[in-house]
Amino acid sequence: MKKKIIIANWKMYLDAKAAVVLAKKIRTVKSKNTIIIAPSFTDIAPVKKALGKSKIAISSQDMAPTDCGAYTGSVCGKDLKELGVKYVILGHSERRKYFGETYEMVNKKIKHAQKIGLIPILCVGERDIEKRAGKTLPVVASQLKTALRGVSAQKLIIAYEPVWAIGTGNPENPENANMVQGEIKKQVGNAPVLYGGSVDAKNFAGFLAQKNIDGLLVGGASTKWEEFKKIISN
Ligand code: PGA
Repeated sequence: MKKKIIIANWKMYLDAKAAVVLAKKIRTVKSKNTIIIAPSFTDIAPVKKALGKSKIAISSQDMAPTDCGAYTGSVCGKDLKELGVKYVILGHSERRKYFGETYEMVNKKIKHAQKIGLIPILCVGERDIEKRAGKTLPVVASQLKTALRGVSAQKLIIAYEPVWAIGTGNPENPENANMVQGEIKKQVGNAPVLYGGSVDAKNFAGFLAQKNIDGLLVGGASTKWEEFKKIISN
């Protein structure tokens, strides 16, 4: 199977001690895939240290859309880079739902990330009500259009994450995800397109077998060693 990208989105689940313990276990796995861990901001430095010389890369879960400066409470991308961060998740549905983030804002963040040399992982996906109305494809197309206005498709990753599938134990079926991701690919050039939303040790292989699924963005299951070990050990 082609090399895939597997991202562990640890959200705000783990404290620093648990994050370090898990990172040290993940480091021991031999995987032919690209593994990226996205710890909370406060866990980035200890997790980076715990990974040592391992090839596992670090992503942050968000970033300010600006250069460092007078922006109380924000996190500056340049400082993240200095900590060894290579990627940044942007536009995750939890940021949109709980923190009012819009794709206009996400567009600014993507441009800033690319300017300073961080690779954005842009999340898109429809809500339940949109899915039921048969609007998945236009909703996703419009999210991409806004988020990627004026953005280079080089050094960019897309994650298709149906909002109703995130953290619910109710994933999209792999064939549908593959179909939507085929449409996404027509819009985003060569950028890899990952699937996310209730991926676990039992269902991950079905997603990875699909032609248009270049990898996985895993939330809850990535914080559980036995589950995540199975997902990356292939
Ligand atoms: P989940 O989260 O795997 O817990 O559904 C995925 C995500 O939010 O990236």
